[in-house]
Amino acid sequence: MRPVIIAANWKMHTTPADAADLATTIAGRTNVGDVVRVICPPFVCLAAVRAALAASPAGQGVGVGAQNIHHELSGAFTGEIGAPMLVGLADWVIVGHSERRRDAGETDELIGAKLRRALEVGLRPILCVGEQLAEREAGTAEAVVGAQLAGSLAGFAEDPGALAAAGLVVAYEPIWAIGTGRTARGVDAAAMAEAIRAAISGLGPGFAALAPDLPVLYGGSVTTASAGEFLAEPAIDGALVGGASLKIEEMAGIVARAGLTAAARRAAAGARG
Ligand code: PGA
Repeated sequence: MRPVIIAANWKMHTTPADAADLATTIAGRTNVGDVVRVICPPFVCLAAVRAALAASPAGQGVGVGAQNIHHELSGAFTGEIGAPMLVGLADWVIVGHSERRRDAGETDELIGAKLRRALEVGLRPILCVGEQLAEREAGTAEAVVGAQLAGSLAGFAEDPGALAAAGLVVAYEPIWAIGTGRTARGVDAAAMAEAIRAAISGLGPGFAALAPDLPVLYGGSVTTASAGEFLAEPAIDGALVGGASLKIEEMAGIVARAGLTAAARRAAAGARG
């Protein structure tokens, strides 16, 4: 049974002064059994969010994630954050977000190096993939996402089991749906989630072993109103939420809907014995 995960990507919003309160309020309003919750604030808010969640009874089940890491562990990289610096501050890390691919020129190879760094320090990675609108319209979305996966996971050919051990999560985020208010259709996102597992299986035997249990999230303008369309799909295991994740009522609604999916999965698993 795959987990149901709701991850909040706060992007470049909040300050250390307000992030802690927002995190604990969201934690209190989303305390739904069986849903894995993760909050990814800006780097400078990690310590405040982590401390506030640890100090609040409802916050203790909420994971904390970073939004990025550098592809080297340390070195002369002014202004960058290496994975070892996050130990004790974060348990998760987003890698390969489309905004970083776009704004920082991140390539699949570089993203693969970031994945390796995450694993080296025990961070659980959320690897983002997704196509441009023109690519979807041209019918090449699955090929584009498959190439992103092949490129970023190529370095794990010798040890794909390390990805499973680290609890790799993939987030399918069609670029045209991010921050636009326009979502993919649930059936299309579910088809892509299965295509992602198939593409990873195709990378080799060790990859095939991890694919069935791989959590795949949908991301792109997820709100309380749209969450159900994705969470009703058995192939989709949750959401990576941007804009709506800063809104307490939205997060309450999204996680409540995720709780229904998690409960249904648990009941189905119980019935299967
Ligand atoms: P959005 O962002 O929900 O604001 O579209 C999602 C993301 O970029 O992860």
